[in-house]
Amino acid sequence: MSSHRQEAVRRVAAPDVTARKGGTPLVCLTAYTAPMADLLDEHCDILLVGDSLGMVVHGLPNTVGVTLEMMILHGQAVMRASKRAMVVVDLPFGSYEGSPDLAYANAARVMKETGAGAVKVEAGPAVVENIAYLVQRGIPVMGHVGLRPQAVLVDGRFKAKGKAGEERARILEEARATAAAGAFAVVVEGVAEGLARDITEAIDVPTIGIGASAGCDGQILVTDDMLGLFDWTPKFVRRYADLRGEITRAVAAYAEDVRERRFPGPAEIYFAKAG
Ligand code: KIV
Repeated sequence: MSSHRQEAVRRVAAPDVTARKGGTPLVCLTAYTAPMADLLDEHCDILLVGDSLGMVVHGLPNTVGVTLEMMILHGQAVMRASKRAMVVVDLPFGSYEGSPDLAYANAARVMKETGAGAVKVEAGPAVVENIAYLVQRGIPVMGHVGLRPQAVLVDGRFKAKGKAGEERARILEEARATAAAGAFAVVVEGVAEGLARDITEAIDVPTIGIGASAGCDGQILVTDDMLGLFDWTPKFVRRYADLRGEITRAVAAYAEDVRERRFPGPAEIYFAKAG
């Protein structure tokens, strides 16, 4: 065997994620593009090609308008630029809820055309059967309970869930059913701290929290939120950078240089060869 042969990097896979239950917290972020995937790969266990890309990248009001084609295109870009992290692609609204066959056809298409390690679905009661159908046919599924952004038209707005009573019990039951259907991990979004802890104790696969406290087995954030690209971030986001400020300063400096004919300068132009 050639000594120049490169050591293959093994990607994190669904069983590796499940095995992390109760261990070192899983580090997860969203990625939608190749350059961002390249930057995040070495730091993350999971890169989620979330349907939040509809709002973050495409300027949609919510995730309802996101299509399977958009998810596949962004999934391919993230797969190309990452080597180690598991890539999970969201199934968009309307692509998996209707029937097990619909879910299978669309999930299989995502897996084949992107090469991703799993799909994620928002796991309301109507979807549990479809999760089991996919898992039994070889498609790893991550569930998503609590605040379900694809249900925004029914809910009316994005609002934390499970602070009390019946809704709390319902979400706990949905998480249990999702894990029992074979999901290898469950995202828990926007729920009260005690509920996140109860879900984490109740299921034997990792919970990945977003706005759900440190009581989960891992954490995920929308990368553009934690990098400070927006002028507003939700309460549960910690801003680790101020890219909005940085970009604004850089673009203003470029605009001024162009207007004052300071850019391009001698170091930034080509000269004809002498003679
Ligand atoms: O679409 C998304 O980015 C998500 C995460 C916020 C969990 O589902």
